[in-house]
Amino acid sequence: MSYKVQLSEQDITFNVEKHETILEAALRQGHSLPYGCRNGLCGSCKAKIISGDISYPDGSPDGLGKDDSKQGFALLCKAQAKSDLIIKARTIDTAADIKLRQFPCRVSKCEKLSDDVIRLILELPKSERLQFLAGQYIDILMRDGKRRSFSLANPPEEDQRLELHIRYYDGGLFSEYAFKDLTEKTLLRIEGPLGQFTLHESDRPIIMIAGGTGFAPVKSLIEYSLKNNDQRPIEFYWGARTSADLYLDEMAKQWSDNHKHIEYNPVLSDSNKLNGWKGKTGFVHEAVLKDHADLSGYDIYACGPPPMIKAIVESFPAHGLNRDRLFSDSFEFAAN
Ligand code: FES
Repeated sequence: MSYKVQLSEQDITFNVEKHETILEAALRQGHSLPYGCRNGLCGSCKAKIISGDISYPDGSPDGLGKDDSKQGFALLCKAQAKSDLIIKARTIDTAADIKLRQFPCRVSKCEKLSDDVIRLILELPKSERLQFLAGQYIDILMRDGKRRSFSLANPPEEDQRLELHIRYYDGGLFSEYAFKDLTEKTLLRIEGPLGQFTLHESDRPIIMIAGGTGFAPVKSLIEYSLKNNDQRPIEFYWGARTSADLYLDEMAKQWSDNHKHIEYNPVLSDSNKLNGWKGKTGFVHEAVLKDHADLSGYDIYACGPPPMIKAIVESFPAHGLNRDRLFSDSFEFAAN
């Protein structure tokens, strides 16, 4: 049995099942409502129940003030629906709607994906969650006060377990540490979410372009769009030097094998190390232009090193791309 929840100030309606909280139901159906701890403590998910009945199976949450219930407020991370509901709640429409926060976290997994890329899984304390939009990044705060930015590779539903792809650079402050000294159970401090590289609503097909570990936010965006059953066609181009640098090639192939609306185009740039490669070659932005003389009907999402982004910004508008439909994230490989 499910109930219908309507947001009074937005044109949004979703269903909530008997066993789930109102917040879980909203997020599951792609409606981003604000939250923090998801444990009934912080009050970030407070909303006003205009009509209908709710209950708290675990008892009234600690984050609900004495007068809150009397005034009709509820904590959506703990409340379940007992009838159809009309709720007055804020929605998260842009990255700016989410509060920037700092968290301690523990490295729960550190695994090599290729010779020079590792995947870190960071776990937040059980009582904490990082709300973010697909495509955003976090900063790792280092002991000397410096910080290093890394895109989140997981979709926003996984808000307690965060995935980062770290590439090794000689002299790279965090990457040297991550490859040589960092072990599972290491404690880190992070701040987030940051960045504006998020999915924008439109009815145009999408071209996504990643260079190297620019794959990480693209993974988050594609997994998010799959979870939300977004059927917009996506052509994904992943540029790398050699096939060994396509460190999650199988995953990208599966997206395209399992979903008709996703196409995967790996592109290799090191002509001396093609080793029988039969796919696309050259710079990744050139491969896109070779396939699309006219980009006027597309939204473009691009994440990678500054030269790749610069080449896209400089060359794509001449092929009809409206600059407002280019969303990009350029990451620096600074050593210090
Ligand atoms: S998210 Fe913290 S109280 Fe609901």
